[in-house]
Amino acid sequence: MHLRVNSVEIKTTEQIQRMRDVCRLAADTLCRVAEIVSPGITTNDIDRFVVAETQRLGARPAPLNYKGFPKATCTSVNEVICHGIPGPRVLKSGDIINVDITHLYKGYHGDTSATFYVGQPSASAMKVTEVSRRCLALGIAEVRPGARLGDIGAAIQQFAEGHGCSVVRDFVGHGIGTRFHAEPKVSHVGMRGRGIRLKPGMTFTIEPMINLGTHELTILDDDWTAVTLDGSLSAQFEHTILVTADGHEVLTARDRPLAHSELYPDYFEHAQVSPP
Ligand code: MF3
Ligand code: CO
Ligand code: CO
Repeated sequence: MHLRVNSVEIKTTEQIQRMRDVCRLAADTLCRVAEIVSPGITTNDIDRFVVAETQRLGARPAPLNYKGFPKATCTSVNEVICHGIPGPRVLKSGDIINVDITHLYKGYHGDTSATFYVGQPSASAMKVTEVSRRCLALGIAEVRPGARLGDIGAAIQQFAEGHGCSVVRDFVGHGIGTRFHAEPKVSHVGMRGRGIRLKPGMTFTIEPMINLGTHELTILDDDWTAVTLDGSLSAQFEHTILVTADGHEVLTARDRPLAHSELYPDYFEHAQVSPP
């Protein structure tokens, strides 16, 4: 059977190659999605595009029918934290949208998401998006053998709260492989030195959801859509990560920049940033 440490699967070389393969496809689909995000399209348009791109690559969209989720993609606009259901909503300039892609390919899952700017962002949209993007990078930077799971959450929480944002507690990153959601649970808040030790061969997601206001949320009547309780903006980025012998590998790393997302590389290098 499979080797597990603290109930977390340690993947074999063969399993790791399967993870690399599916994650590369998911990353590619996210890059393609970025190219179509624009004012005037609907979240249904994005979902249909994801279905077509996923199938073109020979993969399946894992969210479809997962625990009853009705669509292939999660599309989370503005105050939607996660699990937004694609529908007839038309995107307009100033919106931010997270598109979350999970592919299933040869029995393995690859999970990645990004927040995109639709047209011209407001200053507050830029802030929550750029804080969220940096939180993911800081969380990933903690990943190496011997580090603790709590180191990841601590790094994310410190940065987000230091910039006046809050970190969602109710949804966490997760182990991933033949199962979409497995152990460990990867909290995006926490304390250094706490939690299980990371070991080479573990694969899990880091996917901080960052709010401009309170971290509290509520679920809409569709039983999926998570929105901020105070209606404030929320942004999220997600990668699937492998713990390696000497650090980590971002399995869903992209081979090119993301259109409509990576627009402000120097955001934190300036005291005041105003939209173009
Ligand atoms: N992709 C999401 C995650 O990052 C999970 C979506 S579950 C679904 O874990 F049912 F909404 F698809
Ligand atoms: Co995930
Ligand atoms: Co996801």
